[in-house]
Amino acid sequence: LRFLVLHGPNLNLLGTREPGHYGHVTLADINQSLIELGDTLGIEISTFQSNHEGELVDRIHQAASDNIDGIIINPAAYTHTSIALRDALLAISIPFIEVHLSNIHRREEFRHHSMLADAATGIVAGFGATSYLLALRGLQDHLRQI
Ligand code: DQA
Repeated sequence: LRFLVLHGPNLNLLGTREPGHYGHVTLADINQSLIELGDTLGIEISTFQSNHEGELVDRIHQAASDNIDGIIINPAAYTHTSIALRDALLAISIPFIEVHLSNIHRREEFRHHSMLADAATGIVAGFGATSYLLALRGLQDHLRQI
């Protein structure tokens, strides 16, 4: 299996950004632990981070031609605003899991709504970097069942 992991805006700053919400783990640490778990499970992991909505849209389109089996996406702030990311994910019809480091439902009201969640196979939020690893296991399990 091949999974694509997408990280949205400001996640390049993990490690120093609002540690009370996001901890001290860096994006490189998260990607490394995903690749290691992927190795154990026999899943090839590609990762991509962008601060630009259109670049994330382009990378989602590319996933279809790259024969990606599943997507794990932390859309960051675009979670709450982006019809474009939603439409891109619906267009390629590859199953995806929405991931958040923080529990968005115990934060500000404007973070409670996701533009993507009702199109997702599943959502994991609130476990810090572990959210991504849970998503990886969950997506593998989902793909085994279909
Ligand atoms: C986030 C939650 C979003 O509300 C926020 O804009 C982020 C990170 C998270 O991982 O907890 O940038 O997606």
